[in-house]
Amino acid sequence: MRIGIFPTSATACAAGAQMIIDRFAASPGAVLGVATGSTPLELYAELRTAKAQGRFTLAHSRAFALDEYVGIAPDHPEAYRNVLRAELVGEDKTGLAEKDLVTPDGQHPDPEAAAKAYDTAIREVGGIDLQILGIGSDGHIAFNEPGSSLVSRTHHEALAAQTITDNARFFGNDLSQVPTSALTQGLGTIMEAREIMLLAFGSGKSAAVRELIEGPISQRWPATILQMHPLVTVLLDEAAASDLELTDLYRARWNLSQRA
Ligand code: F6R
Repeated sequence: MRIGIFPTSATACAAGAQMIIDRFAASPGAVLGVATGSTPLELYAELRTAKAQGRFTLAHSRAFALDEYVGIAPDHPEAYRNVLRAELVGEDKTGLAEKDLVTPDGQHPDPEAAAKAYDTAIREVGGIDLQILGIGSDGHIAFNEPGSSLVSRTHHEALAAQTITDNARFFGNDLSQVPTSALTQGLGTIMEAREIMLLAFGSGKSAAVRELIEGPISQRWPATILQMHPLVTVLLDEAAASDLELTDLYRARWNLSQRA
């Protein structure tokens, strides 16, 4: 893992955006995997700015979401399709066309069938070139919660109590309004992305980040499976990095990689 530790989330997102801009300049039709939640919002804002300045476009690309709530009203602003549409779709955003935003069908009467279809859709486009990830305070990526399979495919997952509590802020702080399950790319699906960029900010993520980078690979902290991926960049602010032991080494390696 390449680990970048930045003074602020804004500087981390500027660096992450530049990586994406460079990647898509080299291969304009690349497939982007997109996360929701609050973590990538500054990154998406950077990409919109780059689009407005003519330095970036997703006009020739497709974007696949990591997950979608099951049973949420299709017009609910927190349905992940609507969140991603508002962030990315349109000439005034990143140039991504509505038809090229692909999200799991959280309305499907048979969620497992919808999950299978989603996994197939990812494979049919040849897989995801660059996957953006956040991380839950309990160590989940997408909605692969603690104790779930490290090799799973896209599936229907029950949200952990911690995740429901964490996400209540998007639902007027009313726990009863937070959906209790989601369709999520599995860890096996995510591990097939050719490149991964994980972002984590704030002290609430420091324990999960410590396990992600320095803990043993375990279902207890699902994100730890990323230690087995050959091309992962982790972008942190100082608070998220505050529980790491080997920060001097990570900083030295990062500086070396920036000179290469
Ligand atoms: C969202 C997702 C989740 C979030 C995680 C962190 O699509 O897959 O894994 O990345 O819950 O959420 P935030 O960024 O809101 O702290």
